[in-house]
Amino acid sequence: MSPARRKTVIGNWKMHGLAAQLCEVERLAAALRRARPAARVAICPPATLIHRAAELAADSPLEIGAQDLHPEPFGARTGDLGAEMLHDAGARLAILGHSERRCDHREDDALIARKVEAALRAGLIPVVCVGETAAERAEGRALRVVSAQVRASLPHALRGREFLVAYEPVWAIGSGATPGPEDIAEVHAAIVRAMAPLGHAPVLYGGSVRPENARALMAIPGVDGVLVGGASLKADDFLRIVRAAERTGEGAMVSGPPE
Ligand code: PGA
Repeated sequence: MSPARRKTVIGNWKMHGLAAQLCEVERLAAALRRARPAARVAICPPATLIHRAAELAADSPLEIGAQDLHPEPFGARTGDLGAEMLHDAGARLAILGHSERRCDHREDDALIARKVEAALRAGLIPVVCVGETAAERAEGRALRVVSAQVRASLPHALRGREFLVAYEPVWAIGSGATPGPEDIAEVHAAIVRAMAPLGHAPVLYGGSVRPENARALMAIPGVDGVLVGGASLKADDFLRIVRAAERTGEGAMVSGPPE
């Protein structure tokens, strides 16, 4: 995979953001309208803000996504949200299988595969997260664990469809630590091999991506972009990461967004 491929930068706000924080989406959308980025850029706010965020991002290159969904479209599922509802609210992609869902809500690969099918049914682009724990890496099992997650959480229905995979080592999320470049390149190559029967999809890296390290991370062979948690909450930080993507991806912004 060429490092010059168009990059993707996705922000995951997790359980952060009240209506007051929508000004960050507004600033981001305005900067991207001016800059016309070559990179693909999306923000996944909490579900409560998707509708308003999508309105603020209208007619801009900024896409809005969801962080999870229920595999069924509608039904007696108190507190859950189906893929069709999230699409109706303005989401165009959906993060699925994030390690915080896998750990906190005991989501397994089979459930995540059903969620991916639900996303496809509703017209949402799935962004499927995989990644090993610190113990699995210490035991030398990182490649095996991640490859198995890819094979089991990506359903056959993805064949020929648009989707993304995000490699997020659990121990790198929110910790300030990142794997070395060789380790990231090795895992990304293993992901490409494991998903080969389905076709090709961009593979993002996630876990402690910051404006300071984004450019180096996106220069690693096989890294098609980044999934950003904490550093996506402020438009200024996130825009610096988008600019880093521009410098490592193909083409350049017509004019850079303000930092
Ligand atoms: P972080 O989170 O950038 O805050 O480490 C990444 C993620 O969980 O997607």
